[in-house]
Amino acid sequence: MAAKKPLRIGMIGYGFMGRTHSNAYSQVNHFFDLEYKPVLKAVCARNAEKVQAFADQWGYESIETDWKKMIARDDIDAIDICTPNNIHKEIAIAAAKAGKMILCEKPLAMNTAEGEEMCAAVEKAGVANIVWYNYRRVPAVTMAKQLIERGLLGKIFHYRAQFLQDWTINADVPQGGAATWRLDAEAAGSGVTGDLLAHCIDTAIWLNGKIDSVSAMTETFVKERTHALTGQKQAVSIDDAAAVMGRFSNGSLALFESTRYARGHKALYTFEINGENASIAWDLHDLHRLKFYDYRDEGPLRGWKSIHVSDGDHPYMKSWWVPGLQIGYEHTFIHQVADFLKGLETGTPVGPTFRDSLETQKVCDAILASAKDGTWKHI
Ligand SMILES: NC(=O)c1ccc[n+]([C@@H]2O[C@H](COP(=O)([O-])OP(=O)(O)OC[C@H]3O[C@@H](n4cnc5c(N)ncnc54)[C@H](O)[C@@H]3O)[C@@H](O)[C@H]2O)c1
Repeated sequence: MAAKKPLRIGMIGYGFMGRTHSNAYSQVNHFFDLEYKPVLKAVCARNAEKVQAFADQWGYESIETDWKKMIARDDIDAIDICTPNNIHKEIAIAAAKAGKMILCEKPLAMNTAEGEEMCAAVEKAGVANIVWYNYRRVPAVTMAKQLIERGLLGKIFHYRAQFLQDWTINADVPQGGAATWRLDAEAAGSGVTGDLLAHCIDTAIWLNGKIDSVSAMTETFVKERTHALTGQKQAVSIDDAAAVMGRFSNGSLALFESTRYARGHKALYTFEINGENASIAWDLHDLHRLKFYDYRDEGPLRGWKSIHVSDGDHPYMKSWWVPGLQIGYEHTFIHQVADFLKGLETGTPVGPTFRDSLETQKVCDAILASAKDGTWKHI
């Protein structure tokens, strides 16, 4: 067998996403037949002891405590950005200037203006780039895309999606700092809109095309929280919940909701699409199933099908176990790495690229702007 081409990874940040990505790099060549093989060259974070412990656990060859030093290394081909949102832009632009490929966590940036700069930088440098909107690569979600492209739904009327959590209901949860940077607009850019709704929007644009306009309301239910770093009570500047109406270019209507105040829901991402002939529904808590209803299935047995997306002719599934056995959340990241490496092999970029993800960023910004002044925003 020909030797694999190494893709030397330098990963910045080793938290939740650092773990999912490291797992994906380690697993991908076991399951997918690819020319390239990721090499865990270096991991970077500010605390040397902790990052060394992570490197030892996951098999990274070396560590850095300053991301600029990592970008300057000539033994690294690709920079993986797994940090809070407020440093995505600076790292991505520096990495592009150094000629590195970039795999960036979502949301692309703090706002559209930053995203535009990042797109310009990667496009000028001509470096491969991708954003980790991983839910596209749940096999059932990819299958939804295939069914829509085959025209099975016909004209689409409605797209509705929700992403619900409940972890910030307690007013004693602090904001800011290492564990709760998501509650601090300085680090996150926005609240649920950039964190959760961005996933719904990326999938929606991918499945149903451009979103033209939105009207939104947001709410911040807990107005003050103690800042984890200063110990001071400070006004909360993120959106805790967002409810959005919108219009797609294809004439269909959008309804999106995300919140961290839906008691009982930990990470419930659902979407449903209603077309003239058929409807599709998907639920992250049952992620291997695609619900499908087709009115052309005549007779008294007409009804919603619950398709167990686990057979060899379902997206990605021939690379896994035997038909009928399902896979899970972590596999979406493995699929993303597999597709990215295949894209390098074939020279065909795979999405979502920075440019694709800028569109999601624009919709998020329009939602926040609409919630502020109560008017419709055109994208
Ligand atoms: N694709 C998804 O479904 C998904 C899920 C969760 C998070 N995310 C995104 O991933 C990114 C990281 O989120 P997370 O949940 O992994 O966060 P996390 O808090 O678990 O990890 C963040 C990491 O960044 C490191 N870091 C922070 N500042 C740094 C700096 N200046 N230099 C080097 N390292 C630094 C921290 O040490 C930590 O290791 C965010 O952009 C987030 O929106 C995406």
